[in-house]
This record gives sequence, structure tokens and C-alpha cells, in this order.
Amino acid sequence: MPAQKVYVTRKFADSGIQALKSAGYTVKVYANDAVISRKDLLTNVAGCSALLSLLTDKIDEAVLKAAGPQLKIVANYAVGFDNIDLAAAKKMNIVVTNTPSDAVNEAVAEHTFALLIALARRIPEADIFSKSKKYTGWSPTHFIGTDLYGKTLGIIGAGRIGGALARRAVHGFGMKLVYTDARKNDIFEKEYTAEQVSLQKLCEISDFISLHVPLLPSTRHLISTAEFASMKKTAFLINTARGPVIDEKALLRALKTKRIAGAGLDVFECEPAIDCDITDNLELKTFPNVILTPHIASATIEAREAMSMMAAQNIIAVLSGKPALNPAG
Ligand code: DGY
Repeated sequence: MPAQKVYVTRKFADSGIQALKSAGYTVKVYANDAVISRKDLLTNVAGCSALLSLLTDKIDEAVLKAAGPQLKIVANYAVGFDNIDLAAAKKMNIVVTNTPSDAVNEAVAEHTFALLIALARRIPEADIFSKSKKYTGWSPTHFIGTDLYGKTLGIIGAGRIGGALARRAVHGFGMKLVYTDARKNDIFEKEYTAEQVSLQKLCEISDFISLHVPLLPSTRHLISTAEFASMKKTAFLINTARGPVIDEKALLRALKTKRIAGAGLDVFECEPAIDCDITDNLELKTFPNVILTPHIASATIEAREAMSMMAAQNIIAVLSGKPALNPAG
């Protein structure tokens, strides 16, 4: 019997590919180091038993059908799986998996904290200033920022990544914590003396607000005009979750009117575009108090290795008739 085919939509950390090859599968990787085009995706998946996809690939019913009836698993190389039509996969008995791990939680929490500190202490502005030879002498008024110590961090989504952020904030930086989540989180409440509050209250009392929810119909534009209106003028908003959780037009208005103090964004509503089609000529990149990074919160060697191996192990489990290690949904 010919080896089962695994199709990988983009080259990534080698360990997972090697694990799949060692398990005896024929592994085909998209030849270009670029987001696979829709046309190539629909053509190249034909005949695969497992599809290893990225968050940039829209995996809908057409792709699942194009693969053929032997497709058993779509292993997404990401924690989020909003790019996959779960209902269509379920209808076709195709397992969908994701790649959560301690390594990813810590990496994303670290990047979130990097954005938080960089915003509070105006690091990118100060870096540009220093590199442009403007530093001619110390000044007591240069780049005044704000302490983290004693400030309130509002975490929206008290899951694994939110938890890794909470630990840093409370134990590392002496911040106070409030959170919103559908469920009460005992670790947050007992270890971090955090209070579970409504979204509105969180917006009202937080000095820093960080998003850690998946993108779902219920979380799309979770942060919009009303939420910005309740925030402190000194508040900073950080998003390392998914872009559309923030209504970007409302964010731009809040920045323009100085409704909030700044934002740190690793994800964007119209990603990979940094700005959606904004009609009033407002662009995120024009604000000095906005820090932008290109969806790299989990971009560490450790996290990528873990994601690579986990995606491969999910495929190996499902193709050998075992339950998936990380079923999504
Ligand atoms: C994820 O895992 O969902 C991140 O957004 C990319 O690693």
C-alpha cells in the first residue's frame, strides 16, 4: 500500500516534518516560502490524508472537498483555528487540531509583556530619537513614561496565555489584576488576588488592557466605540490575540481623539494589511504611541519547535487510528 500523503502548506521548523517522514508518510511541502495561493491550495491538497495548515490558510468546505474523501485530519500550526470551517470538517468526519503548549503560552505572554513595557516606557520613540542623533544632553522631561508597579492590568480571557501574562504581571511587576472570562478562574483569584469583573468595569478601571480571547462571532469587535468610551484616557490596549477582536476604526478614532494613551498590536483586523481600508486617512503607523509587530508573539525557537512537533504528533495519532492530542473546538 502506498504511503499516506501529508500536505504541508508552508515550510516550518524541521523537527515536525522529520517526525512525519520517520513515521513513514510521504510529506509534500509547498515549494514557495510564501502564503499559499488559493489556487495552489485547492490543487495541491488533492489526495492527502492529512493537511498541515497555517493560520493564513482559509480551510473551508471547498478545500476539504478538494483534498478528497481520504482526508482525515487538518492539523493547524497555531493555537487559533478561526481560519478553519469546523462545522464543515465535522460534517465530513475530519478531525481538526491546534498547537497549544506551555512554550507557546510563555512566548506569547513574553511578547505581550514586551509590548506593555515598551508602551509604558516609550522605548520605540526613545530608540528612534537616540538613533537620529537628537540626544544632546540629559533632560528631566525626556520621554516620561508610566510605572507598571501598582497599576491595574485588565486581562480579557483568563485562559492559558492570559494566565502566563497574569503571573508575570503580579509576581514579576507588582501589578494589580482584574479579568473577564466566561468562567471564574481560581488561580487568578487565589494566587493573583484578581477580581472577575464585567467588560465595562474592566475597561473603566484598567491602566493596561490585554486581549487573550479566540476570534469567534461573539468576540468580533469586542472592543469597539463603547468600550473605548469607558477606558481611562491613560489606558494602553494590547492585542496579541486576533485582529478583528478590536474594531480598528473605533481604535483609530480613540487614538485620534486621545481617548486612550496608546496601543500595542501584534495582530490586525485586515491582516496582513496593517490598516484596513480606512477612508479618513488615519493609519495606525502614524501614531508614535502605537507599537506594531507583524504577528510574531509566538515567534521563538522554543514555541515554533513545540508547534511543529505538536502538529506532527496530532497527524501521526489520527492517521494511526488514535485520538488527536489537541482536538480543536
Ligand atoms: C497562534 O498560535 O494562534 C498564533 O497566533 C500564531 O502562532
